[in-house]
Amino acid sequence: MPYQPRIDLDQPVRDRLMLRTVPGAVDYLAEDLRTLPATVVRRGPDRLVVDYAGPLRPLAAVRYFDVCAVELGALDTSLKDGALAALRPADGPVRFRVGEQLGEQRWELRDRLVDGYGWRNDPGSWDVNLEPHGAELGALYLTQRYGELRRTPASTNPLVGAVLVRLAKIQPGQTVLDPFCGAGTLLVLAGEMAAPGRVLGVDVQSRWLSLAAENVAARGVPATLVRADARRLPVRSGSVERVLANLPFGKRVGSHRVNEDLYPGALREIARVLPGGGRAVLLTDDKRLFRETVQRTPLLRVIKEVVLARGGLHPSAYVVSKRGR
Ligand SMILES: C[S@@+](CC[C@H](N)C(=O)[O-])C[C@H]1O[C@@H](n2cnc3c(N)ncnc32)[C@H](O)[C@@H]1O
Repeated sequence: MPYQPRIDLDQPVRDRLMLRTVPGAVDYLAEDLRTLPATVVRRGPDRLVVDYAGPLRPLAAVRYFDVCAVELGALDTSLKDGALAALRPADGPVRFRVGEQLGEQRWELRDRLVDGYGWRNDPGSWDVNLEPHGAELGALYLTQRYGELRRTPASTNPLVGAVLVRLAKIQPGQTVLDPFCGAGTLLVLAGEMAAPGRVLGVDVQSRWLSLAAENVAARGVPATLVRADARRLPVRSGSVERVLANLPFGKRVGSHRVNEDLYPGALREIARVLPGGGRAVLLTDDKRLFRETVQRTPLLRVIKEVVLARGGLHPSAYVVSKRGR
């Protein structure tokens, strides 16, 4: 279904907005905002606060934030000519929810919204979610803007995935492979954010491949999915210009001991399937093993590392290139 927001994306607004991302992706968010009517007024490890003046549509197209919120102290001004004024529920008043973390303050806030604004308290289905960091706009959640994907327990956070795709610098028509594709998050993002030719996904687990099949079909990304071991890829040498993967970290998925065999085998295969000048972007938290393994793999070298935090972990995205032309 196309994105049908309960907010008017074409109504010009003037507002101070908090955009939340993941640590490590703040620069990418700032970069994407440069061409928008947005001035950064504050920068945190996982967020930007911006003064925004214009329609929300171009902001809604930015991949690098998952939550957009209005400051709780600025609800009145936002309702006058800001993002809250652009809310357009077709079926009655604005519905809201007040988070428990607001403590005792939440009852007063609830009454003010009901009595003063005519909003409806509806914790089950809301347009605005009030939390200590602000009034989150449901219509601008990443999952609302781009749709929800089926996930495995180890699926890649879509903000992190978007950074991996950006680092891969996929050129139009290039073949893209994820040899650890799981539910196919990176395949979907590569297909949506770039214009690849062939998109290939490999995983050892057929149950994750069936989720990947659902995801690529739902998002209209033509992809070939194959059950195989990343150490023995059913792919011709030199035929894949870009490899993208979120490797098993050896913590919640697999173990360091398993990685000691998996990483050398997988990197040897990546070196084989890439042509000279090809590029792989690989995310892992098993960093020492990864760096040592790249050093031992002929023709591969790390050209960039970006630390991306999520869920208490601080994995790095390594950009690896293959020597030669
Ligand atoms: C971190 S998850 C990838 C998550 C994926 N990007 C997603 O968004 O769902 C790592 C994946 O590697 C797969 N895997 C583990 N060992 C493998 C191997 N030897 N060959 C191929 N895939 C493997 C697991 O089944 C798991 O789906």
